[in-house]
Amino acid sequence: MTATPWWRDAVIYQVYIQSFADGNADGIGDIAGLRSRVGYLSALGIDAIWITPWYRSPLHDAGYDVADYRAIHPRYGTLSEARELIRECHAAGLRVILDIVPNHTSSAHPSFVEALRASPGSPARSWYHFRTGRDGGDSPPNDWLSVFGGSAWTRVQDEGEWYLHLFDASQPDLNWDNQEVRAEFEDILRFWFDLGVDGFRIDVATALMKAPGLPDLGYPDGAFLADLTRPNHPHRDRDEVHEIYRSWRKLADSYDPPRMFVAEAWVDDADRLSRYVRPDELNTTLNLFYLKSAWSAASMRTAIDSSIAATASVGAPTTWSLSNHDVERVVTRYGRADTRRIPGVSGPELGPVDERLGRRRARAAALLTLALPGSPYIYQGDELGLADAQIPPAARQDPIWIRSGGRRWGRDGTRVPLPWTTDGGSYGFGDDGAWLPQPAGWGSHAVEAQDGDDTSFLELYRQALHLRRTHPALGGTNAVTWHDAPRDDVLLFTRSPGFGCLVNFGPVPAPIPLHGQVLLASDGADFDGLLAPFGAVWLDLDHATTRTPHEEPGER
Ligand code: GLC
Ligand code: CA
Repeated sequence: MTATPWWRDAVIYQVYIQSFADGNADGIGDIAGLRSRVGYLSALGIDAIWITPWYRSPLHDAGYDVADYRAIHPRYGTLSEARELIRECHAAGLRVILDIVPNHTSSAHPSFVEALRASPGSPARSWYHFRTGRDGGDSPPNDWLSVFGGSAWTRVQDEGEWYLHLFDASQPDLNWDNQEVRAEFEDILRFWFDLGVDGFRIDVATALMKAPGLPDLGYPDGAFLADLTRPNHPHRDRDEVHEIYRSWRKLADSYDPPRMFVAEAWVDDADRLSRYVRPDELNTTLNLFYLKSAWSAASMRTAIDSSIAATASVGAPTTWSLSNHDVERVVTRYGRADTRRIPGVSGPELGPVDERLGRRRARAAALLTLALPGSPYIYQGDELGLADAQIPPAARQDPIWIRSGGRRWGRDGTRVPLPWTTDGGSYGFGDDGAWLPQPAGWGSHAVEAQDGDDTSFLELYRQALHLRRTHPALGGTNAVTWHDAPRDDVLLFTRSPGFGCLVNFGPVPAPIPLHGQVLLASDGADFDGLLAPFGAVWLDLDHATTRTPHEEPGER
C-alpha cells in the first residue's frame, strides 16, 4: 500500500516573512528570525510552512515584484541561510513551500530592463505584452484595468509603446505564449526543488494566459478597478493556462519525493476551480469560497459542501483558509455585522468591528476548520487571535493605498509584525522597532502572554492541532456526515470513527444533541452542559458521558 501524500491533509502555516520575526534588529522580519522560531512552529503542531516571496525585489508590492527569482533579498538573508532553514525545518518535521510569482516580474527584472532598451517587435519585448497605443499612440491599447486600480497599461518613456500590468506599474505581465518564458520558469522551479523545497504556492495562478488580440472588456466610463467576474474573461481563468500546469506537475512528479503545488485561484465557479486540480495538474488550490463566506450556518455549510464536491469530482483534497496577507484577519471580519469578505472595499466603509465577538467566532471557526477533511491554512498570527491594526496613513505601504490615491485602505492592517513578548521595543518581534507600527496593547496578544494559559487562543490552536494528529477520525480526507441540529443556526457533523463537531453560530446557548465526551470547546465557560453562544465543540462519540442527550442525531 502506498502512503497518502503528505499534502492531502497537511496543516500549512503562512509565514509573511517581513512580519514574522526579526533576527538582526532592523525592524524587518528575516530568515534568521524565522530560524529562531522553528521550535515554536513545530510545537504548534503544523506540518508545513508557506513563506511569502523572499526574493530580490524593489518591494513595490511587498516582494510580489520579483527582480531575481534565484536570489534572496539581502534584507531577509542569504541563499545559504535559506538552505539552512530548509534543513532545520525538515529536521523538525516541517515541510517548506515557497511562493512563485509567474504572472509578472518586477520592472527591475533584467529581462524587463532589457525589453525597455530593445526596440518594438524585438525578441526582448516579446517576453512581455508591449503594444502601440490607440489615438495615435496616446491612449492605452485597450480598456483593461489594474486589480489595484487605474489603467492596466503604462507607456514607456520616449512616448513609445505601452506595456501591460494587471497589478502595479512596477509589475509588468509576462507573455506566456513565449516558450522562453515557460522554459525560464521551469528552470526556476528546478532551482528551488533541487535545494530541497517541498512545493510552491502559485501567485495569481489564473491570470497567465490572455485572450489573443487582447480584446476590450467594455468597461463603463469612470470604472476604476478590474472586474474579474465576467464570463469568458480575457485575462482570467483562460482554458490555455492548464497546459502550463500540466507541464509543471510533470516536473514536480519527476522528483523523489514528488514536490507539490497550491494555486492561488480566485475563481468564482467551484467547477472551474476544480479544473486546476485535475489528476495531471496542480495538487491543491487555495479555497477562496470558504474564505469569502459569511459566518452563518447556511453559508458555511454551502461553502464546505460545494468545495468538497468540486474537488472530490477530480480526486483532489480540499483546502480551507480563513484569512491571508491580502484580506482582513478573521477576527476583524467576524467582528462586523456583515461577515462576508467584500472585495474592493476595506476599512471603515465596512462598518464597526466588535473584536470580542470576532474572537469568539474566530475560535469556533478554528475548531470547525481543523475538523474538516483536507488541508487547512493558518495565516501567521491567527493562532494568536490577532485583529487588523489601524495603520496611520503616513505609514501605509500597500500599492492599493497608493494607486487608489487614498480611496482604499489597502492590506497593511493585516500585515503587522507579530508580538512574541508582552513588552519590549517591538514586543519581541526584534530588538527594536517594526517596519509597520504595532498598535498599543499588541503585547497582550503575544505568544508569551498566551503560552500555558488554557483559555488562550494559542493553547486552543495547540490542543486542536494535537488532537487533529492523534484522533483517528481527524486529519485524512474521510467524509463529513451532516446531522440534524437543534436549531437553524447550529451545524452538526460527524466523521468516522467516533468524532463529532458542533458549531453554534447564534447568540444563545445550544443543546448538545449527541452522546459524547467533550474533547475541546472553543469557549470554556460553563453553560450547564450547553454549547456556548458563538461557540464550537469537538466530541468523542466513543466515550459516552452520563449526561442525558437531547436527541439522537439523524442523517439529513
Ligand atoms: C497575489 C498576492 C498579492 C499580490 C498580488 C500580485 O494576489 O497574494 O499579495 O499583491 O498577487 O502579485
Ligand atoms: Ca531583519
